[in-house]
Amino acid sequence: MNQSSSIVIAGGGSTFTPGIVLMLLDNLDRFPIRQIKFYDNLYERQQQVADACEVIIREKAPEIQFVATTDPEEAFTDVDFVMAHIRVGLYAMREKDEKIPLKYGVVGQETCGPGGIAYGMRSIGGVLEIVDYMEKYSPDAWMLNYSNPAAIVAEATRRLRPNSKIINICDMPIGIEDRMAKAAGLASRKDMEIRYFGLNHFGWWTDIRDKQGNDLMPKIREHVKQHGYLLEEEMEGSQHSDESWVQTFGKAKEVFELDPTTMPNTYLKYYFFPQDEVAHTNPEYTRANQVMASREKHVFSECNRIAHVNTSDGMTLEIDEHASYIVDLARAIKFNTHERMLLIVPNNGAISNFDETAMVEVPCILGANGPEPLTQGKIPQFQKGLMEQQVSVEKLVVEAWIEGSYQKLWQALILSRIVPDARTAKQLLDELYEANKDFWPELN
Ligand code: NAD
Ligand code: G6P
Ligand code: MN
Repeated sequence: MNQSSSIVIAGGGSTFTPGIVLMLLDNLDRFPIRQIKFYDNLYERQQQVADACEVIIREKAPEIQFVATTDPEEAFTDVDFVMAHIRVGLYAMREKDEKIPLKYGVVGQETCGPGGIAYGMRSIGGVLEIVDYMEKYSPDAWMLNYSNPAAIVAEATRRLRPNSKIINICDMPIGIEDRMAKAAGLASRKDMEIRYFGLNHFGWWTDIRDKQGNDLMPKIREHVKQHGYLLEEEMEGSQHSDESWVQTFGKAKEVFELDPTTMPNTYLKYYFFPQDEVAHTNPEYTRANQVMASREKHVFSECNRIAHVNTSDGMTLEIDEHASYIVDLARAIKFNTHERMLLIVPNNGAISNFDETAMVEVPCILGANGPEPLTQGKIPQFQKGLMEQQVSVEKLVVEAWIEGSYQKLWQALILSRIVPDARTAKQLLDELYEANKDFWPELN
């Protein structure tokens, strides 16, 4: 086996690509790389990121071969890992996913509720296309997918590519665990061992310990009870944290009250307090607008500047520290490390009183043969009820996509806790369908 990996980043034009490249370059001692390729279906967008990354790679690791292409054969040939973060429809469509529901007084969000359902209907085809390119040109490769909405995409790959080597992942628990570790006075989330169950963006921690086995839950609970997942520096009004995320981490305090024996994923706020989300959202200027005006603008202007001056000296692009779990993941497969990680996998009894065909988020041991989920046992009625409803939304969206079924998509919408009634669900469906004509399969 070649110890040094070849990687293709699918969605090379993503706002997250430079941060991930910097993170890969920062971890070469743990995870050697011989080649990085970018693949995107939008040449112009990817090329701007690629021109900057070419400069950065030349300066930091000139031995790595670098290629950016829109040709699938060139992109997917001779690769060990496909790191996929595509956004079918770009931010223009995210904006519609968020704004259309808000017109009806319903939460407009990237992965939750009607917005997430609309995005799911766009993403499935794009992600499957990438799986198929990988299997055609590099049949031994693994796909590490974090394209959203991960829950729906994961269900689609389980249904339609059951034997493919795909691992679906999310960085939200990583971000929350970083905060828990700080609240508990630890240096890193890697000093903790956790138990967790749920669906993607819909889960709960049930046990958090340090490496000596000491229970950290009481200390974390005290913190969350008072501050949610906010940390000292944010409470003092740091200039550098994004307002929208500060609100989300603070809101965890209220979400936590629903079941103080567990720690919630931040995304549950959309399901428990949708009225608050609607109330503090400007329907003319949503998260998509914020991201376009901040992250997207910054990444592209900085990439263009780096390419122009032809050096990375003084660059303001930052290593995506959160994304180091992607290196942990790739390493675990490549070097059979059997690291314990939270992944989105078929349940198969890991949650014993829950649908065995559901795609669940649970801790797994990850090695060269893929993930081995760890049993989380029986879950309480409260979470079970919520998850059964939510997983039905996700399964119905995938069925609607496969069958082209208007009826099933309508049912998916009405099952979402965020949608108030069947009539609103139908109006939403009709308007989202119209807006997504170029992306969704035809519905009958
Ligand atoms: P972005 O729009 O900046 O980048 C996405 C890129 O994908 C674009 O360059 C676009 O041209 C490309 N693309 C779209 N369809 C494609 C296709 N069919 N084939 C190839 N390329 C295609 O978006 P972003 O904000 O950087 O996010 C990228 C993705 O990563 C999103 O799905 C986002 O939700 C996801 N994400 C997930 C997590 C997680 O926790 N799982 C974390 C961060 C981001
Ligand atoms: C978290 C989630 C991702 C999501 C991202 C959105 O990282 O885990 O799934 O894509 O937040 O962030 P944004 O800044 O684009 O709203
Ligand atoms: Mn996520």
